[in-house]
Amino acid sequence: MTSQIRFLICPPHYYDVDYVINPWMEGNIHKSSQDRAVEQWDKLHHILKENAIVDIVPPEKGWPDMVFTANAGLVLGKTVVLSRFLHKERQGEEPYFKQWFEDNGYTVHELPKDLPFEGAGDALLDREGRWLWAGYGFRTELDSHPYLAKWLDIEVLSLRLIDERFYHLDTCFCPLANGYLLYYPPAFDSYSNRLIEMRVPQQKRIAITEADAVNFACNAVNVDSIVVMNKASEPLKARLAEVGFQVIETPLTEFLKAGGAAKCLTLRVTEPVREELHANVSVESRVFNLEGHLLDSGLINRALDLIVDNGGSFQVLNFSLGEQRQSTSAAEVKVSAPSHEVMESIISHLIDLGAVDLPQDERDAKLEPVIQAGVAPDDFYVSTIYPTEVRINGEWVKVQNQRMDGAIAITRTPKGIVAQCKLLRDVEVGEEVVVDVLGIRTVRKTESREKRNAEEFSFMSSGVSSERRVELVVEQVAWELRKIRDGGGKVVVTAGPVVIHTGGGEHLSKLIREGYVQALLGGNAIAVHDIEQAMMGTSLGVDMKRGVAVRGGHRHHLKVINTIRRYGSIAKAVEAGVIQSGVMYECVRNKVPFCLAGSIRDDGPLPDTEMNLIKAQTEYARLLKGADMILMLSSMLHSIGVGNMTPAGVKMVCVDINPAVVTKLSDRGSIESVGVVTDVGLFLSLLLQQLQKLTSPYTAKVS
Ligand code: ARG
Repeated sequence: MTSQIRFLICPPHYYDVDYVINPWMEGNIHKSSQDRAVEQWDKLHHILKENAIVDIVPPEKGWPDMVFTANAGLVLGKTVVLSRFLHKERQGEEPYFKQWFEDNGYTVHELPKDLPFEGAGDALLDREGRWLWAGYGFRTELDSHPYLAKWLDIEVLSLRLIDERFYHLDTCFCPLANGYLLYYPPAFDSYSNRLIEMRVPQQKRIAITEADAVNFACNAVNVDSIVVMNKASEPLKARLAEVGFQVIETPLTEFLKAGGAAKCLTLRVTEPVREELHANVSVESRVFNLEGHLLDSGLINRALDLIVDNGGSFQVLNFSLGEQRQSTSAAEVKVSAPSHEVMESIISHLIDLGAVDLPQDERDAKLEPVIQAGVAPDDFYVSTIYPTEVRINGEWVKVQNQRMDGAIAITRTPKGIVAQCKLLRDVEVGEEVVVDVLGIRTVRKTESREKRNAEEFSFMSSGVSSERRVELVVEQVAWELRKIRDGGGKVVVTAGPVVIHTGGGEHLSKLIREGYVQALLGGNAIAVHDIEQAMMGTSLGVDMKRGVAVRGGHRHHLKVINTIRRYGSIAKAVEAGVIQSGVMYECVRNKVPFCLAGSIRDDGPLPDTEMNLIKAQTEYARLLKGADMILMLSSMLHSIGVGNMTPAGVKMVCVDINPAVVTKLSDRGSIESVGVVTDVGLFLSLLLQQLQKLTSPYTAKVS
């Protein structure tokens, strides 16, 4: 039976692996056999001829990959979108293919230059003609998809390829008759997989194994019920047979060496148009301005990487390079994303980096009313640590109470518009909340190369330090602590019980006594073990002087809790003289406020421990207000909690023996945070020594 389907193919006279433009070609230069290639190609030709009509485009010397006619262009009806090859190695094929299409009566559309699109290698029609699947990520630029939609008047569904072995859509994706789909899911990002699953019902999706995928089983030619491919495993053949397809295997190993097989070697040039369907494309684009020391600080790289890593693509429309060391650069970047959802996630990252709309594109923020107390509208913008402004009625309004993971709530008061970060549970009916990602900008300090380098030696080098750098950080922290204390500033300490277990209690006590600490945040445990040490000389039953477990010591802390409960509070126990030293003692004595947040595993708890976590969070936030520096000492939970409440600009020092905790905290992308992987007791001891040096009067040695 011969169908009315036509295929365009190109004989392999000049075929060879001459260069490397995909991973399959690596190590294969001139390794394919001409004779075998001809033989394999002839067999394929023969099979096609038995099942369809075959047209031939003459091969051209010097263009070895021209055999892969799938990359000539994309045909629908009598219209073709000509390919624009990414690699110059193949660009020379374009005029020959163009000629063939024109000679055969097609209307040829050509994409703007520098907008790569590799034809039917990266764009596959649903076999029922309902829509076009279009790939991007390696050879084809996402921005070409809207052109396809426009010229072919069809809905385009963009799929992002993420495995470079499957660099063209047709290497891992093959729509079959009756709405079936043969594909290799790991070749796509999760967003694309979701899109596929939404469009193709489960019983129609045939996911193949990696073993079949690397044999190019998806690179198949489907004519009615036959499916021609290089090779298929028995289970795959059986699976296809179950749903009425017959696999014809024909070895194409010589072409695999160039990264192609059956489908790549053919172009279907009869694709029926469904008149009732029309263009639709969900690709969105937006142009941004980015300013600062873009190159010095690596900001431009970060921005572009982030766009691609999140599934978008970009075009740098303008770049004006600051010529002097101090002058800043500016870039205008067009960002495209396959859908609004992906766009939103890219943009919220870009906003964090300080990207802004072009002045002419500035728009008001989108607001939606709160209709249920404590619940924000679905699409609410999630706040970050960076100083943020939102545009309302054409004016930029500064957001108050900046913190991470909140919503931006707007209230209109007689005195004007107030914008503030609020926790979801705190939003109120009558307020509006910023949704989407329009009309939002963050104000970032410009980071220069000098500054980045200088920071290594000044305070704020972001990142994790260990070993030798501990001392360096200690020096910087000591210097800052002194400056803040002498200037009447505010230092907040979050501390876990490890501070006490590692012998850091006396040092922290001293810091408090000498006025370096303005608030203490922790849980039940730090207070319990601190008081245990003060009253019984042990911490979790371990004698702190001798370092050995004391008989019955594991009960010590319970006795302590019981005693404090009898007095009613830590302060009262201090007054009564029951507690005579330690961290909590110094807090009470020196009127340093503290908040102990409870948790499920607390023994007791102490009467001071706040077991209502909402109250505890509120109290933490209150004590943190206006902090200049936060010392986070070995408490993952409390430190992360604090990190989320703190806007950028507050110096954070996180000390923990576990690098994971330190990384998590210093990873806020804020240059003011620094992490130290070390024993916290040791850190505190070094810190005190250093402070001692800074405060002991200078005595000249006169002999
Ligand atoms: N060597 C060719 C290239 O890398 C192979 C093209 C395969 N074609 C395809 N439709 N997947 O461009």
